Amino acid sequence: MRDLYSITSCLDNLQRPLRDLRISVTDRCNLRCAYCMPGELFGRDFVFLRHAELLSFEEIVRVARQCIALGVRKIRLSGGEPLLRHGVERLVEMLAGLHGNDGKSIELAMTSNGTLLAKKASALKDAGLMRLNISLDALDENTFRCITGGSVSPEAVLEGIAAAESVGLTPVKVNAVVRRGVNESEIMPLVRRFRHTGIIVRFIEYMDVGKSNGWRLDDVINAGEILALIDREYPLISIDTLTHEEGVAKRWAFQDGGGEIGVITSVTQAFCHTCSRLRLSTDGKLYTCLFAADGIDLRTLIRAQPGDDAALRQRIAATWRGRADRYSQIRHEVTEALSGRIEMSYIGG
Ligand code: GTP
Ligand code: 5AD
Ligand code: SF4
Ligand code: SF4
Repeated sequence: MRDLYSITSCLDNLQRPLRDLRISVTDRCNLRCAYCMPGELFGRDFVFLRHAELLSFEEIVRVARQCIALGVRKIRLSGGEPLLRHGVERLVEMLAGLHGNDGKSIELAMTSNGTLLAKKASALKDAGLMRLNISLDALDENTFRCITGGSVSPEAVLEGIAAAESVGLTPVKVNAVVRRGVNESEIMPLVRRFRHTGIIVRFIEYMDVGKSNGWRLDDVINAGEILALIDREYPLISIDTLTHEEGVAKRWAFQDGGGEIGVITSVTQAFCHTCSRLRLSTDGKLYTCLFAADGIDLRTLIRAQPGDDAALRQRIAATWRGRADRYSQIRHEVTEALSGRIEMSYIGG
């Protein structure tokens, strides 16, 4: 018999349903982006999680199953760099076998820095991965190396993107975080490079996520500025998204048929009101917001009660039901009031 949790939609305190699960499979990365894992803080001495601390693939799948029973339709694997997790293809295969309450398969995607993808794309596709989002903040060699810590060339990412395309992990989306004084000069080269390719570049407003990037509002180039810059050379039209539940990006098409781009406006136009994302950390904690300070530990429960899926589901449901997060909305109001700097221009979507 189906229990209460599988037949009722799981809504949080602000009536938002649980739809997306983002699973971090490793806290390690082979890059050292200054805004995420700056080399000074994540150096040789940095202590990453030990293997025993990570959720095993079987444990991750147990959590995913319960989330699906509560309404999740989309799972995204992330990191760190998810391709650094040994055997991640096996996890993809295990997750690809899961089905939603309606019997449909779950949308299964990954966000990667792309540098290891040339070798792995084919195996990921065979395992059942559907889509890939790949981070690439600059095409210029020096700028890219400067942003990412210097060890890798942007060519490695471009090869990864080509590999993803060639095996059909499409549409490939390229994520570019834009920071003032760092890579705004890369916006147009990225646009030109990926127009007419089917690849969708999404420009992301730099966020104050984490504690180590020394974020300042002045560093943010807002989506209005980005769109104006692109529109000057390639006129854009807004593509109406039926619902923001499907993604965080606002979509714009080139009027000349050259494809589309996206902007992710978490600083200037928060999308918390439709946020349906739950995050599972590498060590088995649930985070109900990208900016949450604390997570809810599931690992202890999972390991103490290996057979008790009902208890696990109840913990997840209670966590979601108690959720009232809307950090980007609150930060937006606060920063606007304090600085008066943010343009509230309508940027579409
Ligand atoms: P799609 O399903 O392809 O739309 O993926 P996605 O955009 O949800 O995932 P991705 O990992 O590519 O994230 C792109 C960017 O969106 C990240 O850099 C974040 O800046 C932002 N983002 C994703 N989810 C959230 C969220 O829940 N809150 C906020 N504030 N930003 C988010
Ligand atoms: N602001 C915006 N986006 C960020 N990302 C990482 N840190 C930040 C930040 N401070 C992006 C990465 C990747 C995605 C998962 O998140 O570039 O594309
Ligand atoms: Fe962070 Fe992604 Fe850069 Fe790695 S590639 S340091 S996970 S932003
Ligand atoms: Fe969701 Fe938190 Fe991001 Fe708002 S800030 S969209 S609540 S994850």
